[in-house]
This record gives sequence, C-alpha cells and structure tokens, in this order.
Amino acid sequence: MTLRQSGKFTAATRWSLLLVGLAVAAGVSLTVWRPDPYETLSLDEPPVETASRGGDATFVGTTRCAECHADKAADYETTGHSRTFHVMEDSPIPSQLDGQSYVDPIRETTLRYEKEGKGLAVRIPEVFGDEPFPLQYALGSGQHAFTFLTLIPGPGGDAVGIEHRVSLFSATASDRTVVPGGTLGLTPGQKDYPINEEVDHFGHIVSRDALEKCIRCHTTTGEISGGEVINLLPNVGCENCHGPGSRHVEGMIRERSGSSAALPRNVRHLGQMFTKQWSALDEIRLCGQCHRMPEDVSSDRISPYHPSTIRFQPIGLLKSRCYLESDKILSCSVCHDPHLHSSNQNITEHENKCLSCHSLTTQKDGTSCPVSPQKNCIECHMPAVEIHPGVYFHDHWIRIRGDQPGKLDQDEIDAESSSVGPCNPEN
Ligand code: HEC
Ligand code: HEC
Ligand code: HEC
Ligand code: HEC
Ligand code: HEC
Ligand code: HEC
Ligand code: HEC
Repeated sequence: MTLRQSGKFTAATRWSLLLVGLAVAAGVSLTVWRPDPYETLSLDEPPVETASRGGDATFVGTTRCAECHADKAADYETTGHSRTFHVMEDSPIPSQLDGQSYVDPIRETTLRYEKEGKGLAVRIPEVFGDEPFPLQYALGSGQHAFTFLTLIPGPGGDAVGIEHRVSLFSATASDRTVVPGGTLGLTPGQKDYPINEEVDHFGHIVSRDALEKCIRCHTTTGEISGGEVINLLPNVGCENCHGPGSRHVEGMIRERSGSSAALPRNVRHLGQMFTKQWSALDEIRLCGQCHRMPEDVSSDRISPYHPSTIRFQPIGLLKSRCYLESDKILSCSVCHDPHLHSSNQNITEHENKCLSCHSLTTQKDGTSCPVSPQKNCIECHMPAVEIHPGVYFHDHWIRIRGDQPGKLDQDEIDAESSSVGPCNPEN
C-alpha cells in the first residue's frame, strides 16, 4: 500500500501541454464520458446500492481485511485484481528495463530506458537529446501487458495523463523487442497516432476525465492531486466488490470482544450493506462497472464476432440464451470464483458448470449437445478469440457459432486496433 500526499509533479513538469492539444483531447472525451454506468443503465431491473455508495463506512484496504480473512486473501493474491496498478518506484520494473531500448518501427526513433534513482525514465536521443521523460505508474498485472502512465501538467496546472506509446508485454510477437521478463512493443491502438505536441513522441494524451476513469477501474481509492495520485489504495481490492469496510471491521472487532453493542455486520456480499438479495444481474453490473456493460459501447459494436463484444464479457453473457432462458440466474460467479485467478480454475470445472444445466440427466434448465454431450464445450461455444495480435479473450456470448472458433476477420481486428487502446476509456 502506498499513501502519497505531496501532490507534486515528478520530473515531468517540463513537458506541460499547450492549450490547443488539451482542447482536442478534452473535446473527444466529453462525448463519451460516462460518469456512472449504473445511471445510464437501460436493463429491466433497477440496480441496488453499489460498492462506491457504502453509507458512512470508509475504505480500510485489503491488508486490513486479510487480518481476519487470511484464506480468502491468500487466494486473492493470485488474481490480476490484486496487482493491476503499480507505483513505478515500488515495482521491479525499473530494474527490469534499465539499459533497454526499443526501436519504434513506424517512427524509426529509439526509446532508451534507464533507472533514475528508484524510478525509471525514457529518452528519445534523436529528438530530445539527453532529456528524460519519467515513467510514473504501470497499469496491468503483466499477465498480458504493463502499460505506463505519466501525469503532466495541462493548462492551469491540472494534470492530464500520457499513456506511453510503448508497453511491456508478456507474449512475444514479431514486432517486439525481447527484454528480461517481457517484450517491448507498441501499445495497441497507438500505432498510427500523429505527432502534434512534443509529448506525443512518448505517448498518447489521456484527458483528465479519462485519467480519473483509469484510476477508478484499477485502484480501490485514489485521487489526482497535482501530478500524483494521492490517498492511493492500489489495485482492485476486496472493497471494490464488497464496499468500504470500516464499519464491518469495527463491528467484527466488537463482536469478538463480546461487546453487547455489536454493530451490524456491515460488509455484505458485493458492497450491499444489509438484507436485499443480489440478483445475477446486480452482480453482472458490479463486474460490468469495470468489465463494461452494453451501454458502455456504441450499439454498432454489439454483434456476434465484434471484438468489443468479445472483450467485454458482460455484454456477451447478457446476450446468451443460457442467461436469458435460465430465469437469469447465470452470474459471473457461477463460473468464476472472484477470489481466484481464472487460470486456477481448470476448463473441466467450467465444463461441469455447463453440464449442470446441459447434461442428459439434468434436462430441467437446458438441452444437451448433439455434437459433444460430455466435453470440450468451451472451445466450440466460448472460444478464445485473438482481438489484438497476441491478445485473446473468451467470447462470453455462449451460442452455436457459424465461424471457425478463434479466428476473427483481419479487417475487424484492424478496425478495432485503430480505434481502441489496450484499455482506452475513450471508447
Ligand atoms: C476483525 C476481523 C475481521 C476483519 C478485519 C474483516 N472481517 Fe469480514 N468477517 C469477519 C467475521 C468474523 C465474519 C463472519 C464470518 C461468518 O459468520 O461466517 C466476516 C464476514 C465477512 C463477509 C461475509 C458476509 C456475509 O454476509 O456472508 C464478507 C464479504 C467479509 N467479511 C468481507 C470483509 C472485508 C471486505 C473486509 C475488509 C474491509 C473484512 N471482511 C474485514 C471478520 C472480519
Ligand atoms: C471501465 C474500467 C476501466 C478503465 C476506465 C480502464 N481500465 Fe484498464 N482494464 C479494465 C479491465 C476490466 C481490464 C481486464 C480486461 C480487459 O483487458 O478488458 C483491464 C486491463 C488493462 C490492462 C491489461 C492488463 C493485463 O495484464 O492484461 C492494462 C495495461 C490497462 N487495463 C491499462 C489501462 C489504462 C492505461 C487505462 C486508462 C487510459 C485503463 N486501463 C482504463 C478496466 C478499465
Ligand atoms: C474495480 C474494477 C473491477 C471490478 C469491479 C471487477 N473487475 Fe475483474 N478485472 C479488473 C481489472 C482492472 C482486471 C485486469 C487485471 C490485470 O491487470 O490483469 C480484471 C481482471 C479480471 C479477470 C481476469 C484475470 C484474473 O485475475 O483472473 C477476471 C476473471 C475478472 N476480472 C473477473 C471479475 C468478476 C467476476 C468481477 C465481478 C465479481 C470483477 N472481475 C469485477 C477490474 C475489475
Ligand atoms: C471482484 C470482486 C471481489 C473481490 C475483489 C473480492 N470479493 Fe469476496 N466475494 C465476491 C463475490 C461475488 C462473492 C459471492 C460469491 C462467492 O461466494 O463466490 C464474495 C464472497 C465473499 C465472502 C463470503 C463467501 C465465502 O466464500 O466465504 C467473503 C468472506 C469474501 N468474499 C471476502 C473477500 C475478501 C477478504 C476479499 C479481499 C481479499 C474479497 N472478498 C475480494 C466478490 C469479490
Ligand atoms: C458459463 C461460464 C462463465 C460465465 C457465466 C462467465 N465466464 Fe468468464 N470465463 C469463462 C471461461 C471458460 C473463461 C476462459 C477460461 C478461464 O480463463 O478460466 C473465462 C474467462 C474470463 C476472463 C479472462 C479473459 C478472457 O475473456 O478470456 C474474464 C475477464 C472473465 N471471464 C470475466 C467474466 C465476467 C465479468 C463474467 C460475468 C459478466 C463472466 N466472466 C462470466 C466462463 C464464464
Ligand atoms: C444456468 C444454466 C445454464 C448454464 C450454466 C449454461 N447454460 Fe447453456 N443454456 C441454458 C439454457 C436455459 C439455454 C436455452 C435453452 C436450451 O437450448 O436448452 C441454453 C442454451 C445454450 C446453447 C444454445 C444457444 C443457441 O445459440 O441456440 C448452447 C450452445 C449452450 N447453452 C452452451 C452452454 C455452454 C457451453 C455452457 C458452459 C460454458 C452453458 N451453456 C452453460 C442454460 C445454461
Ligand atoms: C466440436 C464442437 C462442439 C463441442 C465440443 C460442443 N458442442 Fe455443443 N454444439 C455444437 C454444434 C455445432 C451445435 C449445433 C448442432 C445442431 O444444430 O445440430 C451444438 C449445439 C449445442 C446446444 C444446443 C442444443 C439444442 O438442441 O438446441 C447446446 C445446449 C450445446 N451444444 C451445449 C454444449 C455443451 C454443454 C458442450 C460440452 C459438454 C458442448 N456443447 C460441446 C458444437 C459443439
């Protein structure tokens, strides 16, 4: 856990933006900024309280929860949720990238990475000589990629973000440079970005609004102050799903000490404070706050085989007959233990979930498969599809498919790649 209060910009002040550049970036984000997906929800049932509206309770952080829920916390440590936001100085990345360089295949410039103190900086000697540009935060668990983020002053001194042009990937691809522990390559979506401002050499300007969204989906708490994220509880913690836990912790401590004035067990499943039962849709909405709901993408992106539909699991699941025709009981946690990394659950476990509704003996909820009634359900009905070179997502629109599993039309991939970053909230 890192709490930083100084609010200072790092060495990035020199790269403050010209007004004109920001106006363009802000203009783009205004039209797509959605303050709260729950408020624009068009599905049939109203949502219950979200984790972020947890009454008078405050956030205490995952380490606090771990004091009493050690088993859950140990499982949770294996998930991507537990390590998706890193302060560069506290991470091993500076040592990993020290002395490495990457030749941008499009612009033919060289990016050189060097450790500066405990942090990391990049230089482009052909353009800026020896001037360093700091790398401040890394987003992602590294399972697919780390993408770097630096805050620089916009007009008026308010921070905007720079999503770096080069990311650190775990998989190899032909256009990438192998370094210890990963490969450097262009951040998906940034390939064809033009250079309008000096800072565009290093990456893409992320408007203030979009920056706040990045932080909201990848941390438990954090606010932008000056050039830093303060009050930072990094990563998707217990409290992103269960709600702020201070009152629960207080209550449990009192209960343990036998106090008669026990407080209510204030943390319930999924941040819901008291008695109301969560429906599958409520849970899908919780996950969909970050994994995206149908209203978070434009409707022309919601169709079979569209990369956005594949990438954002709630969209596909909500379209599936398995969800629609099972009294809508098929929530994410039916198949995923949210406390375990998905790779800790093997495919057979998932298939047993299919068979709980689709076997010859349990005809209650569904029919069985005429082609393969016992096995390999996922590869035919929820295949992994490559939506960016080297990046695969399982299609959660469970259905009888007309395509060859796992292959997308190259034009569709290209169309998506040119408009969507790895996780660009402006889409
Ligand atoms: C002082 C010990 C303690 C701490 C700290 C603590 N819990 Fe608990 N928690 C408990 C106990 C005891 C229970 C009840 C277990 C039971 O009845 O099975 C519980 C139950 C829960 C439940 C299940 C509630 C239900 O409705 O079934 C959740 C979810 C939970 N805790 C989450 C958290 C989170 C998130 C944190 C950190 C913000 C946290 N706990 C911190 C002791 C603690
Ligand atoms: C609406 C919530 C949301 C926003 C906003 C968001 N992310 Fe993400 N991010 C996710 C989710 C969910 C995943 C995992 C699934 C996926 O890749 O779509 C993810 C995955 C990632 C990954 C890949 C992690 C890995 O190891 O595979 C990176 C890197 C990343 N995000 C960076 C960013 C950056 C940089 C921003 C801001 C420009 C951002 N994200 C904004 C929700 C979000
Ligand atoms: C606050 C935002 C947020 C919420 C809420 C959220 N996720 Fe995630 N999820 C992420 C991000 C960010 C990642 C990417 C982690 C990384 O860097 O690899 C992710 C990754 C995942 C992964 C793939 C990696 C892994 O560790 O297994 C699964 C599966 C997943 N989430 C399931 C869920 C489910 C199920 C829910 C709801 C119960 C949920 N998520 C709620 C943000 C969120
Ligand atoms: C991505 C969302 C998410 C995160 C992060 C998360 N949980 Fe949960 N948790 C759930 C959901 C959904 C359920 C109910 C379904 C289930 O039991 O699997 C649940 C159930 C629980 C329960 C009660 C049921 C049980 O299995 O005992 C406890 C206790 C709990 N979580 C504690 C924690 C703690 C502690 C953390 C952090 C170390 C944490 N959770 C992180 C989503 C999450
Ligand atoms: C019917 C079972 C099932 C349901 C329901 C389900 N998933 Fe999955 N999910 C899978 C399988 C199978 C995989 C691929 C194997 C793995 O990673 O465990 C997967 C993979 C994922 C991944 C990893 C990235 C990817 O797409 O390969 C994420 C993130 C994810 N699911 C999120 C969700 C969310 C969020 C929900 C709820 C909207 C959900 N899943 C509902 C079965 C399911
Ligand atoms: C909660 C119960 C439930 C679960 C779990 C479930 N399904 Fe379904 N599924 C249904 C229902 C109900 C239907 C619609 C009626 C029917 O075809 O039986 C359906 C329909 C289908 C269809 C036909 C869809 C179409 O396009 O016509 C396929 C294929 C399918 N399911 C595969 C799967 C696979 C694979 C899994 C596991 C990853 C799975 N289902 C998990 C309940 C479920
Ligand atoms: C080799 C690919 C393949 C595998 C493996 C496979 N299926 Fe299918 N499945 C199909 C095809 C193709 C159809 C359509 C058959 C037809 O319409 O004649 C189908 C149809 C279905 C249907 C619709 C049946 C109906 O009558 O409406 C369900 C449900 C289903 N599969 C579930 C499953 C489950 C569960 C598994 C794993 C136990 C599975 N499938 C494994 C290819 C596969």
